[in-house]
Amino acid sequence: MSRPKVYITRPLPREAVERIAAQCEVTVHPEDVRMPPSELAAACREVDALVASGAQVTAELLEQAPHLRVVCTVGVGYDNVDVPACTSRGILVTNTPGVVTEATADLCFALLMAVARRLVEADRYVHSGQWQSWQWGNMWGTNPSGKTLGIYGFGRIGQAVARRASGFSMRILYHSQDRPTPEREKELGAQYVDRETLLREADFLTLHVPFAPDTHHLIGAAEFAIMKPTAFLLNTSRGKVVEEAALIEALQSKRIAGAGLDVFEFEPKIHPALLAMPNVVVSPHMGTATRETRMAMAMLTAENLLAALAGQRPPNLVNPEVWR
Ligand code: 8YV
Repeated sequence: MSRPKVYITRPLPREAVERIAAQCEVTVHPEDVRMPPSELAAACREVDALVASGAQVTAELLEQAPHLRVVCTVGVGYDNVDVPACTSRGILVTNTPGVVTEATADLCFALLMAVARRLVEADRYVHSGQWQSWQWGNMWGTNPSGKTLGIYGFGRIGQAVARRASGFSMRILYHSQDRPTPEREKELGAQYVDRETLLREADFLTLHVPFAPDTHHLIGAAEFAIMKPTAFLLNTSRGKVVEEAALIEALQSKRIAGAGLDVFEFEPKIHPALLAMPNVVVSPHMGTATRETRMAMAMLTAENLLAALAGQRPPNLVNPEVWR
């Protein structure tokens, strides 16, 4: 029997590729860039499985990939995949939750500390030779301790951020569709509040919702209008959750104090106005970019893929209705 054909859209770690190659015929796109749709479609024509890392899986692509049985994303978010189109064709979709949690929460907290203590601004100031003498009034920031952290979306990553915040003696509020058990809430020291209370009381508002039609522009002008003028926005989820034009307006008019952003509405394009503001700290969508996490994501992807091709239920199935 011929081995199943697999296409991988980015050069993933050797260990993961070898694990798949032990059982499949594997082709890896050699460059770490987003493949143009026509190139991706040509690559998928004969394949049984697709590892879609930073690649868009559309209904048009699926039409041109008649043998496809499983699409594996390398990340927890799967907004790059048209899941309903996969489901209607009986194609399994998998993701890699769990392994991304700690690294993403760490980056969120790093952004929180960076905006609170003006760390990037301070680094630029020293590097550029502007520091002449110690001054009482220089580089004043904000204490996270005693402040309120508002967590919007309280899944694995939101809860991991809460754990970090309790170590910094912050008051923790959250708003989410799903609520953990009262015991878990107590353990995390987190209190559920309605959306408006969250926005009104947060000194730091951090977003941890998936991107879907109902979270598109979840935070826009109306939300910034409720927030404190001393509040900071943190986004390590998806760029399109925030209406970027409204964010720029809120920052420019001092409706809010600053932002720490790892994701952008039109990434990798970032509005020049955001780049010009010293109270905005930016990073290039790197929440999961640690050696340990990226390796774990790649290995879990291999596990999902091999299970699916072996006719077993993959550990992280996004569309279980296909399985049933
Ligand atoms: C990936 C992510 O960088 O896990 C996620 O949802 O955002 C990241 O780990 C992203 O999926 C691009 O492949």
